[in-house]
Amino acid sequence: MKETNILKIAAFAVYIIVSGLIGIDNATAQTVWLDELDLSAATQGYGTPRKNKTVDNKTFTIAGKTYERGFGTHSVSSLLIILGGNALSFSTKVGMDDEVAGHQSASEFVVIGDGKTLWSSGVMRIGDSARTCFVNLAGVKKLELVVTDGGNGNYYDHADWANAKFETKGTGTLKTYNPIASEPYILTPKEKAEPRINSAKIFGVRPGSSFQFLVAATGDRPMTFSAKGLPKGLKLDPQTGIITGSLTKAGTYEVTLGAKNAKGVAEKKLRIVCGDRIALTPPMGWNSWNCFAQEVSADKVKRAADAMVKSGLINHGWTYINIDDFWENNRDSKDPSLRGKFRDDAGYIIPNTRFGDMKSLADYVHNLGLKIGLYSSPGPWTCGGCVGSFGCEKQDAESYAKWGFDYLKYDWCSYGNVINGLPDNDPYKVSSLSYNGGNQLATAMKPFKIMGDYLRQQPRDIVYSLCQYGMSDVWKWGDSVNGNSWRTTNDITDTWASVKGIVLDQDKSAAYSKPGNWNDPDMLVVGHVGWGNTHPSKLKPDEQYLHISLWSLFASPLLIGCDMEKIDDFTLNLLTNDEVIEVNQDPLGKSATCLQTIREMRIYVKELENKSYAVGFCNFGLEIADLSFKDFDKLGFNGKFTVRDLWRQKDISTIDTQKAQLGIKVPAHGVVLYKFTPRK
Ligand code: GLA
Repeated sequence: MKETNILKIAAFAVYIIVSGLIGIDNATAQTVWLDELDLSAATQGYGTPRKNKTVDNKTFTIAGKTYERGFGTHSVSSLLIILGGNALSFSTKVGMDDEVAGHQSASEFVVIGDGKTLWSSGVMRIGDSARTCFVNLAGVKKLELVVTDGGNGNYYDHADWANAKFETKGTGTLKTYNPIASEPYILTPKEKAEPRINSAKIFGVRPGSSFQFLVAATGDRPMTFSAKGLPKGLKLDPQTGIITGSLTKAGTYEVTLGAKNAKGVAEKKLRIVCGDRIALTPPMGWNSWNCFAQEVSADKVKRAADAMVKSGLINHGWTYINIDDFWENNRDSKDPSLRGKFRDDAGYIIPNTRFGDMKSLADYVHNLGLKIGLYSSPGPWTCGGCVGSFGCEKQDAESYAKWGFDYLKYDWCSYGNVINGLPDNDPYKVSSLSYNGGNQLATAMKPFKIMGDYLRQQPRDIVYSLCQYGMSDVWKWGDSVNGNSWRTTNDITDTWASVKGIVLDQDKSAAYSKPGNWNDPDMLVVGHVGWGNTHPSKLKPDEQYLHISLWSLFASPLLIGCDMEKIDDFTLNLLTNDEVIEVNQDPLGKSATCLQTIREMRIYVKELENKSYAVGFCNFGLEIADLSFKDFDKLGFNGKFTVRDLWRQKDISTIDTQKAQLGIKVPAHGVVLYKFTPRK
């Protein structure tokens, strides 16, 4: 007998034995190749999921061996497949593709069935031979194919699931799915008909500045508002709940706000602090960048503001409507609406024709009870190639104040080229982004101080948001240049890799968070995002809960990045949980830090006023974390507490931390967010 025939018979015998063991019904068993399913549902770190091709659109090659079929992806990647009980087994060869040879790359391939790891490749590097995976899927309903970053956070991870296939009981029964479309679940309880005041407990204003504060409240309308103890110079419109005016004298004023409707009355204390500092709680609002990017226009901004009101978000304290890049004229766009004179002869900026009259836009937004912000760069050009403030900082600060703007995001962008001595007046020789000079303290601070000083000279409170991606430890000096917030990291995207990377980088700056000074891990990526071409956020529902919980725990500015007109119930549930928002807006202004790590669970603790604590049990692992927690010593508090689940707004137990244990179950990439309030 020929050798190949012996091999064939042996392979058939093995198949019969294996199928017997895992119960394949030979009569109906059928092969379904992974590449026959819709791979576009996958989420991945970079590029698009590829069918039968690598990330770079080439034939799969792992350690010199080629493969015709499979799924090519870039870590960190996840593909979810509903098996519907019909799959019997899954097999594949995995490895890092040779197309990124020469790069330091490492990933781990993990196969997860119903929340449990069924197989993992171990960390693989470029040049490692393909590893063979075979898993029995009997009884498994949901499968997830994950490629992790192998713990190195590297960028060059081109991962191949080669020859990946299922053996199934029937046809057409496997389906990949977009986790967002199919699995959102709502935790935030429905709003009550009775009034509840949700605006912050503390508000800062400078003497002489124009004052605007909305009593944000949920509950049936019509509603009337009151304010006891309002200092002279301020008045409340009882119909709209908007307090306006101005204060001449520095001081602290204790006011009692009231909201009344047919169902009842609510009261809440507001402390108005008239002095040097503003933004005493993290700014909450919307920014145009993550949805519209270069497509922004005055019309879209107005519609976002309208949607902030119509969606009811305004009633939960959401306030700022911030225009990002592209309200200015652009140096190289072909779009005529972005081409025009940059400045007038006196150096005052001329908005592009999509915006035109900035004052009337600001009035429009203020009339809704909201506030408005805009964007510039200390360099000659913004990151998008629009005109920046370099050399005209004074005129720009004056324009913003004159138009009635309340917030400026000031983005480093081309300033590095100024330091390099590159010609700042020759647009085509200046690249958009250069970090050069950002890592030396003096040059890093200088441009932000210039604008900070001009902003302070304006008769208007303008929240000053520094954006330079965390260079030169900005959290240590941002306050000294009048900054109210500062980005701590690079730009966020709606991927798990991005959110996780940003989160793990936050502890370094946490100690610098205080009223008027906020670490900014970038804008929110929930809802429809997409930088000019939107899609539903690719974060899974659990990842979105984790994202919002952590941004609240970090006392970060909360800037919604999605298309406000496409907000769905799931996203609204994420953005309207008043008890979660209260953690973010707590008057102490502290940021959570990670105080304990248990395997892949990181426990973040934020001290709140009145000796309470918000604790986020954050699971960065791929499996459900189920544990009994008792190490309260490590979290820095002890005693008798009421434990409240903030997402569900429900007390779940009372606990004596010395004696009791707390059962905690956290979904993969998810969170349990509790508040511990001391018991008398
Ligand atoms: C940078 C910032 C973004 C956005 C763009 C605009 O990338 O980090 O948030 O403002 O510039 O061009």
